[in-house]
This record gives sequence, C-alpha cells and structure tokens, in this order.
Amino acid sequence: MSGELSPIDRAKFIAAKRSIQYVEDGMRVGLGTGSTAAWMVRCLGELVRKEGLQITGVPTSTRTAELAKQVGLRVASLDEAKWLDITIDGTDEYDANLNLIKGGGGALLQEKIVATASDQMIVIADVSKQVEQLGAFPLPVEIIPFGWQTTKTLIEETLINLDVMGRSSALRLDRDQPYRTDEGNYILDLHLRRIGNPRQVSLVLNQIPGVVENGLFIDICDIVVIGHCDGMVELRDINNGTVTQDRIEIAESDNLFSDM
Ligand code: 5RP
Repeated sequence: MSGELSPIDRAKFIAAKRSIQYVEDGMRVGLGTGSTAAWMVRCLGELVRKEGLQITGVPTSTRTAELAKQVGLRVASLDEAKWLDITIDGTDEYDANLNLIKGGGGALLQEKIVATASDQMIVIADVSKQVEQLGAFPLPVEIIPFGWQTTKTLIEETLINLDVMGRSSALRLDRDQPYRTDEGNYILDLHLRRIGNPRQVSLVLNQIPGVVENGLFIDICDIVVIGHCDGMVELRDINNGTVTQDRIEIAESDNLFSDM
C-alpha cells in the first residue's frame, strides 16, 4: 500500500512516523491539523492499537478530532487536559530559527493555543516547507466577520510601516463564500512575500482591532522533523542546537491507509 504514495506523501509520512517516537505512555498530546498531521494521527492510532499506550489526544480542529476518533485515539478538549506534554503539527513554512507560518489549513488559532499550552512542540514537514526567510507563503490572519473590510484596510495600512515586501491581502473563500474557521471567523491571507522581522509583524498584527490571531509561530516550535521520500529524516532541535539524521523504513505492514 505504501508503494502507492507520491514522493511528497512519502516524505510527510516518514516525518510523521518518526515524530511519534517522541510520544510516551501516559502523555497528553496536541494533535495538529493538515495532511502531514493527519499522517501523524494515523501513526499514533496504530501505535496505540499495537502497543496499548495510554494517550490522550487534544485535536486542533474538528477535522482532526474526527480522524483521531476514527483511528481509536482517546480525545479530550484542551480544558479537560489543561496542559500538554507535546504537540505535533505540520507547517506551511519554517526558517532556520524554527519560526513558522501556519494556518494554510485554517486552524491556526486552535493550533497556536494548543502548541503554546505544551511543554514541547514538534513540527513535521517535508523539505519544501523550509525557507530562508518567511513570507513566500501567504500569512493567514484570523479576523472576526464584523467589520472585516475595515480590519483588512487597517491591516494593509499598518503593513506600510513594517519590513515586508508585499502588502495585499485576500479574504479566503470556500467556493464563493467566505471561508469560516472552527470559531466561525474569517481568514485574510496576507501576500507579504518576505517578512524581515516576523516577531514585530506578529506583535503589530495582533494589536489591530478585529484581528483574533495570526499564523506566525515565534519561539513556539522546539524540534522540526524533516522527512525525505527515501526514508531519511533530519531532526533539528533549536534548544540543543543539534541536527541529527535518522532513517525510517516503510514496511508493507504499515497498513495505515485503508481508511483513506
Ligand atoms: C493548518 C496548518 C497546517 O499545519 C499547514 O497548513 C500544513 O499543512 P500540510 O501538512 O497539509 O501541508 O497550519 O492550519
């Protein structure tokens, strides 16, 4: 079954499979959202089924909650779990400092809350997510629907004073309607092209009335697990300053794909 995966899905799966080695019996685990995180949830389900670990998963979206239940994970809300040992999530971009752009899948708010409420955040990615400077991926900003056009104008005007290359923004759509997050909010995608000072941009955006949260994750990620389609994995730990390599084999018994 695994032989049918595209190279990019293989790389995502490899990263996901390696990342669950950080999960130990009894842990409360934040479950990210997106295609890479979905591999991780399936791998975790498999681990729990095979080894009987007692894991509590805190999902970052309704999509992830559904998948987690489907693969047999025990699911709790963040308020039930209170604090988490680890969160494993995907990303849209990461830089050398392990700062991230997230929210391509629209779940940035819950993802940021859950990751911040965790002792450790592990990001799983394929190498295409690695950038020298953040900003090529449009920065998602969650805003409340009330007065959204005013909020959009305020954001674009604020960007004039910031070290970014582009300033246009677009309301995210779901067919011809505004995309709604799990909280019922809208998302503006900011086409900044290059973000010179991500910390400043994040702080300034969150000061604007109507902005709920932005997709810049600054000093939140501890480790990035980068999967390659040939099975090689690179582990970058920002706290230890280490870069190590490992190898993951995809076994034919990795029967994680029957529900896809
Ligand atoms: C969802 C996210 C995802 O982690 C991000 O979009 C990466 O997704 P994928 O693993 O499908 O490339 O932030 O809000």
